[in-house]
Order: sequence, then C-alpha cells, then structure tokens
Amino acid sequence: MKILGIETSCDETGAAVVEDGRVLLSNVVVSQAHLHGRYGGVVPEVAARQHLEALLPVIDAALREARCTPKDIDVVAVTIGPGLPGSLLVGVNVAKALAYTWGLPLVAINHLEAHVYANWLVEGFSPQLPALCLVVSGGHTELAIMEGHGRFSSLGRTVDDAAGEAFDKVARILGLGFPGGPAIEAKAKECPSPSLRLPRARLKGPFDFSFSGIKTHVARLVQGAYGPPPPVEEIACAFQDAVVEALVEKVVKACRHADVAQILLAGGVAANAHLRQALAQRAPCHVCWPPANLCTDNGAMVAACAYYRLTELADKASLDVDVQPSLMLG
Ligand code: KG4
Ligand code: ZN
Repeated sequence: MKILGIETSCDETGAAVVEDGRVLLSNVVVSQAHLHGRYGGVVPEVAARQHLEALLPVIDAALREARCTPKDIDVVAVTIGPGLPGSLLVGVNVAKALAYTWGLPLVAINHLEAHVYANWLVEGFSPQLPALCLVVSGGHTELAIMEGHGRFSSLGRTVDDAAGEAFDKVARILGLGFPGGPAIEAKAKECPSPSLRLPRARLKGPFDFSFSGIKTHVARLVQGAYGPPPPVEEIACAFQDAVVEALVEKVVKACRHADVAQILLAGGVAANAHLRQALAQRAPCHVCWPPANLCTDNGAMVAACAYYRLTELADKASLDVDVQPSLMLG
C-alpha cells in the first residue's frame, strides 16, 4: 500500500510516499525557518501563506522522487492537528481536493502520533509494546505509554513552554538565531569545561515538565542580574544540560512506574545528540530514535502512521475531515 503523507502543521511543508508503513520511497520537506528567523519564532500568517505556495510543488517533487504518478498512490494522509490553524487548513484542504480528484481514501492524522511513527521508518526497527514515548517538539513535550497502535495514554506533559520552544526562546536571548535547538547544540559543543549550573524546576506532577523558569533565569543572567554574564557557549551548555536532565529524569522515573519494553523518542528535539546519549546511558531499556531529518516535521511520519491506522485500527477513510488545532496525544 503506497500512502502519500502531507504535513503542514507548523513551518515545514512536507510530502512523502511510504510503502506499507515502513519503506520510505520519498520524503520532501521545505522549511520556512529562514523567513521566521528574524522574528525569533514562527509567525502564523506567514507560515500559512508559505504553505499555500510551497505545498503543490512539494507534493509533485515527492511523487517524482518516489517514481510514482497519482495512479500508483492508494491513500492520501494528512495532519489535522495539533498545530497552527491556518497552516493545518492549507494541508487539509489540499489533501481533500487531491483525494477527491484522484478518487482515493483520505486519512486524518494526529501530528503527535505521527512523530512517534517516525521510528517505524528506521530500517530494522522492531516495535515492542507497551513502549514509553517521549515526544519533544517546538509545540509539545509529552510523556505517554503506547499500549498498541493508536492507543496512547498520557503520563505527563509540560505545564508551560515546550522543550523545543524553550530552545528557540533561549537561542533568541543568546542571539543564536532560529531554530534554536541546532544552534544551541552547536554552541554548547564550544564550551571547553562546563561549570555553570542552572536551577531545576520542582513540580507536583511526577511526570510533568516546566521549562519557562530556566528560560527566565537565562534572560536574567544575560541582563547581568547575577554579575557579569558568563560566555554564551557556557550558558548554551548549561541550558542544554538542564533541559536534557529534566527529560531524562522523568523518562527513567516513568520506566520504573510503567514497566515498558522500549522507549520511543520523537519530535524535533529528539534530534539532539546530547539527549540521545544521556537517555541511552541512563534508561533501563532500549531507546529508539529516528534520524534527525525524520525527527523534525515531515510527511513520511504522517504516511507511516496512516498505514497502521488503516490496517490495525480499521480507521474509516472519509473526505469529511476537519482541522483540530488542539488535538492531544492519548
Ligand atoms: O517537531 P518539530 O519539527 O516541530 C514541531 O512539531 O514543533 O520540532 C521543532 C523543534 C524546534 O523548537 C527546534 O528548535 C527543535 O525542534 N530542535 C532541536 C534540535 N533540532 C530541532 N532541539 C534541540 N536540539 C536539536 N538538535
Ligand atoms: Zn512536529
């Protein structure tokens, strides 16, 4: 079964063709980061307009790269949420129009679930459920148990900023550009001997996260509230350590609580090598993660997720789908 996956929930326009939920035939992503950079974050109106311009050429390129024509495609899948309403509307309406014109079923996909399914695109990946999922992106930080295909139960989430959002905001404070995650990771590597330690958040919910306090502390540090500001690479390193430590600590605690067979890391922040290493070292079971280009938003994860929704959950395809900007995981 060949599925065309379409992704427009934030600032990446993505389309991909995936066979039987596992085989990547093409994956085309056009990022708008250069347009949003000067604002230090994604501007929703700009994002929607860009998706409108980019989406049809991106779909064309994905079909060409997969050596497919529309006749070879069996299903169209599209992200319906969570995400920016205007951006989601572009993807959903284009997907509806294509499915109608090509006479194909249309499957609606939850973006957070799709991030988890990026792991299914890794060669040799062998799912062992129940698994613990950590979805860390620009908009979300979610810890959930995946009991089966499409069956997620939430353990905790961020009570304020998402992990990726904190990376982006701190990068802006440090003048490192957008998106902040890769910029902070690169800057932190320049720190010869890390000595700075940022305060950690204490939370009531055992599996919840909070990142806005660390961000505020960095802002105060840079303003000189605690004396002469440390070098940028030192702050970047200390910030990355604080976020990674918070994530790893909760994952380890959740593993003890839930007795899972595997950890599935997903979302843009999962591209962070420091997070991957720390988790692999401290987690009590095997940790899986997709390659960096499948951690950040893409259409392939949407197509992979749709395959399992159709085959394992017998989801009914329908043209009657609408955007759901506030969808959750589980
Ligand atoms: O999943 P994603 O592409 O979009 C959303 O669904 O939000 O995630 C984007 C986020 C951004 O906040 C970006 O700064 C972060 O992922 N990110 C990283 C890295 N690469 C991307 N954060 C930390 N380290 C990285 N290497
Ligand atoms: Zn995402």
